[in-house]
Amino acid sequence: SGKTGKNVQGDFTVAVPRFRLKAKPNEVAEKLAAAFKPTPYLASVSANGAFVFFNCQVNALASLVLNQVNTQTYLTPDEDHSALSTFANLSLSDSGADKPPAGLKLLKKNGYGTNQSGKGKNIIVEFSSPNIAKPFHAGHLRSTIIGAFLANLYEANGYNVLRMNYLGDWGKQFGILAVGFERYGSEEELEKDAITHLYDVYVKINKDGETDESIHDRAREFFVKMEAGTRLIVLIIGLAGDEEAVALWKKFRDLSIVKYKETYARLNIYFDLYSGESQVSQKAQTDALEALQKSGIVEESQGALIVDLRKYKLEKTVVRKKDGTSVYITRDIGGAVERYEKYKFDKMVYVVASQQDLHLAQFFKVLDLMGYDWAKTLQHVNFGMVLGMSTRKGTAVFLEQILDESKRVMHDVMRKNEDKYAAIEDPEYTSDKLGITAVKVQDMSGKRINNYEFKWERMTSFEGDTGPYLQYAHVRLSSVERKNAPDVVLPPPAERPSTIDTSLLTEPKAREILLLLGQYPDVVRAALKSLEPSTICTFAFRLSHLISSAWETLIVKGQPRDVALARLWLYVSAKDVLGSAMRLLTLEPLERM
Ligand code: ARG
Repeated sequence: SGKTGKNVQGDFTVAVPRFRLKAKPNEVAEKLAAAFKPTPYLASVSANGAFVFFNCQVNALASLVLNQVNTQTYLTPDEDHSALSTFANLSLSDSGADKPPAGLKLLKKNGYGTNQSGKGKNIIVEFSSPNIAKPFHAGHLRSTIIGAFLANLYEANGYNVLRMNYLGDWGKQFGILAVGFERYGSEEELEKDAITHLYDVYVKINKDGETDESIHDRAREFFVKMEAGTRLIVLIIGLAGDEEAVALWKKFRDLSIVKYKETYARLNIYFDLYSGESQVSQKAQTDALEALQKSGIVEESQGALIVDLRKYKLEKTVVRKKDGTSVYITRDIGGAVERYEKYKFDKMVYVVASQQDLHLAQFFKVLDLMGYDWAKTLQHVNFGMVLGMSTRKGTAVFLEQILDESKRVMHDVMRKNEDKYAAIEDPEYTSDKLGITAVKVQDMSGKRINNYEFKWERMTSFEGDTGPYLQYAHVRLSSVERKNAPDVVLPPPAERPSTIDTSLLTEPKAREILLLLGQYPDVVRAALKSLEPSTICTFAFRLSHLISSAWETLIVKGQPRDVALARLWLYVSAKDVLGSAMRLLTLEPLERM
């Protein structure tokens, strides 16, 4: 065993470890090299100081890699979903589960680049989780993008995944909203666009609340009523003590979800479960509080219950308010327990901004102190902030506005190239997809934890490491087949191995591409360790750059038929692998633009 490194040509070098061996590393390297006999996969081995350099057989490499990529097939959205529901026992009608968008064709579980390391393990990925009545801000956008990627990544590594949206749909803010709705609400506006209308109402009533304390008193009263037993009844029977109040809240929630679903579908993202703070049962929270009291980690302070976590380098935290109402952390504690009872997950990941590092650390710690051994399977996947996200006019931002604007900007960029623009079949569709790709790739190409600045010009450019650049590379790869037909046509996958002579792929460029394609399965495994979308982004960029440098030397047109076929197969494989990487990143690879 030793450290492996890859050189430019992609052959590999292994360092002889210093400490494990009795002999000198240089001598060991020499010995190994001298004893080596060529194999079908390795042409030669040479020693270089304490390093051993392994040189691959291009031939074997070519048929190995291309044949593996060739096994790639896609699941239909329905098949894909049925695989998920076995774990959660959900059907499409449960809890408003989304049908995966038709454009989302995930890799088959045994396709190229996937592996079975997570086989039989159930994982909940909680992500997006916006707050009803408040803006869907950059933090939610990042959680949505990164979380959807992680869900795909776990799936590619063989896990059964439950995609869960934990809506911020409970709390005093709903009291405020209810008071606001009385004053400023309009049923009509609510039906039209619940999210925007509720936000308007929320902003107005909060403004009034600055000078009118009675608004807050009434909001608190309203929330106490919501919590005092009404909730359970409402959710189960649909009736309540304070019928009107709860009916109103339910309406806010339902209409907001309808709207969210539209946006997620546009983003090629879906959920198996729309849960939320309101869905955590009162009982789960009371049980949690009781267990806390028993374990002796709670104390009373001015009528409220608190947990003192300073021993663990965390802060004190309130777990029940003076008026008896629940708080964010109690709902999270009760919620986690309920989820465990229901789904017996092997792992649960929370994709939440790093502003909430303390909150997550606290509630994980509390669960641990309560004695739940599954608490150690909880993981917070955090991320930094987006700076300066606003439309170009500088107005307040909702996700939809951002997506519409990216689409517009992309449309402008596309129009600049008149000839090409004329050839685009559906500029509306293409610009929307490109805009979304631009936003997502900008978000995923750096390390999660870093903050980044939202830059229209940079992210929508077709040059540099951008989303549109990836799409362009994929479109160009997709066109090779079209452009060479009917002179050279690739046989169906099953016939390729026996009819195409891959030993004709002798150019250094071809070899470089093969080696990179061959690394993809390792990249998918590596990403599972880092949980960094950038691991996959970087691979996709490298592949795109490599391909764009190959067009001039690896020509298909006008070549002898067998050479043309081999190269065509190489390009189509590159397209498949790039496409897989893009799908993993939740992007919809375009065939034309
Ligand atoms: N709704 C919360 C917010 O917008 C995020 C929820 C994070 N998840 C959790 N289990 N606390 O701040």
